[in-house]
Order: sequence, then structure tokens, then C-alpha cells
Amino acid sequence: MASKNERVNPEVQSQSLRRKKIMKYSLYAAAFVVFQTIVITSFALTVMRIKNPKFRLRNTVVEDIVYSSNTSTTSFGMRIHAEVTVENTNFGNFTFENSTVTFAYGGNTVGEVFIARARARARSIRKIDVMVDVSSNNVSSNSNLGSELNSGRLMLTSHGRLNGRVQVMKLIKKRKSAQMNCTMGVNLMEREIEDLNCK
Ligand SMILES: *[C@@H]1O[C@H](CO)[C@@H](O)[C@H](O)[C@H]1NC(C)=O
Ligand SMILES: *[C@@H]1O[C@H](CO)[C@@H](O)[C@H](O)[C@H]1NC(C)=O
Ligand SMILES: *[C@@H]1O[C@H](CO)[C@@H](O)[C@H](O)[C@H]1NC(C)=O
Ligand SMILES: *[C@@H]1O[C@H](CO)[C@@H](O)[C@H](O)[C@H]1NC(C)=O
Ligand SMILES: *[C@@H]1O[C@H](CO)[C@@H](O)[C@H](O)[C@H]1NC(C)=O
Repeated sequence: MASKNERVNPEVQSQSLRRKKIMKYSLYAAAFVVFQTIVITSFALTVMRIKNPKFRLRNTVVEDIVYSSNTSTTSFGMRIHAEVTVENTNFGNFTFENSTVTFAYGGNTVGEVFIARARARARSIRKIDVMVDVSSNNVSSNSNLGSELNSGRLMLTSHGRLNGRVQVMKLIKKRKSAQMNCTMGVNLMEREIEDLNCK
């Protein structure tokens, strides 16, 4: 009976049409809200999530290596050429301040290299060539340096920290830092660095 009424009564028909229209637009509105939410959420999870860049050492070459380990002297010296990398995965540039990378043996500083302020562009790796002269002058004599030199393998570490900020799209600036913590074994006979490991 009702369907018959609808067909004949134009007022009822237009009411039902309006209801259908409202439903259609509500669905569009809901779909739009869901879409916007997805866009904003994925934006927040990728572009806006700012991470600390990675600060590492690689491609090391050792030259002019000297060492001695006898009853009167235990010492070493060498020149290390390497590439320092700043890996910035953010969607904004990372601008960092002047800094130094320190090389150490058994906690004693054996060499230092200056890293000038610079910028690692968004989603890229900045490579900086460095050269550092390493010497055991500051190593305390009571360390087990002698036995390590006799073993033919010297363990060194390198540490550094770049302080700076990441800027995304002119509006977001966030202070971030990149930290270097590497260990390496210098093979004294082969005159090369083995097992370079950066965290
Ligand atoms: C110990 O080694 C140094 C450097 O190689 C050398 O000048 C010195 O004569 C050596 N001393 C002894 C006692 O062998
Ligand atoms: C950074 O190092 C440069 C030399 O490369 C120097 O001219 C400048 O004054 C330093 N900046 C700061 C803030 O220390
Ligand atoms: C040894 O220590 C002195 C004083 O602490 C410092 O000025 C020098 O740079 C150090 N040498 C090395 C190779 O680190
Ligand atoms: C990032 O740095 C490059 C130059 O290295 C510059 O052209 C660009 O405008 C910078 N982007 C922002 C957002 O600062
Ligand atoms: C790096 O070394 C420093 C000092 O040795 C330490 O405080 C820091 O936790 C280390 N960071 C990582 C990521 O291992």
C-alpha cells in the first residue's frame, strides 16, 4: 500500500528524494573526513616526524704508520684519512654547528679533527673528507698498550656529536643532534683498519 501511495503522492516522493540526497552528501562528507584524516596522519607520521641524523665514519685509509714496543718505548703514530658521513633522513635540511671528532685509545685522546659547520640536505648523506694525525703521546704508560702492539692489532674508538637543527618547510624547526660512536681495529702489519663499527 505504501509503495502505491509514494508513487501517487508527489509530496511523499520529493521527501524521499530529499532524504536520499541528504544521505548521499552525508556519505560524501564522511568519506572526505576519513580521507583527510588519512592524509594528515600519514603526513604527521612521515614528514613531521623528525629524527636525529646519523653521524658515522667510513672509507678509512691508514698511512705513515709507526710503532714500537720494546723495554724502553711503547708508542704508535699514524695518519688516518677517512670519510665522515652525516645521514639526514628527514624531509628538511639539518644545519649543524662546528664540532670535533675525537679518536681515542683506551679512553685517552690520541687525535682530533675539526668538523666545520655545514648543512646536510633533506633526505641525503653529506660526506666530509677528514685527515687526522694519531699519536700515543697522551696515552698513560700503565696501559696494556705494549701487549696490544705486540699482538699486531690496536683498538681505537672515535666519538663526536653534531648539534644543530632540522627545518621542515620553513615552519618547523627542531633542535637535533647526531652522535658518532665507532670502534675499529688497526691491523699493524697490513696497515689498514678492520672491523670499523659505528653505532
Ligand atoms: C725501542 O724502539 C725505539 C723505536 O723503534 C728505538 O729507537 C729504540 O732504540 C728501541 N730500544 C731498545 C732498547 O730496543
Ligand atoms: C666555526 O669555524 C669557523 C672556521 O672554520 C670559524 O670561522 C667560525 O667562527 C666558527 N663558528 C663558531 C660559532 O664557532
Ligand atoms: C695531548 O694532551 C694535550 C694536553 O691535554 C693536548 O693539548 C693535546 O692536543 C693532546 N694530544 C693529542 C694528540 O690529542
Ligand atoms: C635546504 O638547503 C638548500 C641548499 O643546500 C636550499 O636550497 C634549500 O632552500 C633549503 N631548504 C630549506 C627548507 O631551508
Ligand atoms: C656513545 O658514547 C657515549 C660516551 O662514550 C655514550 O654516552 C653514548 O650513550 C653512546 N651512544 C650510543 C648510541 O651508543
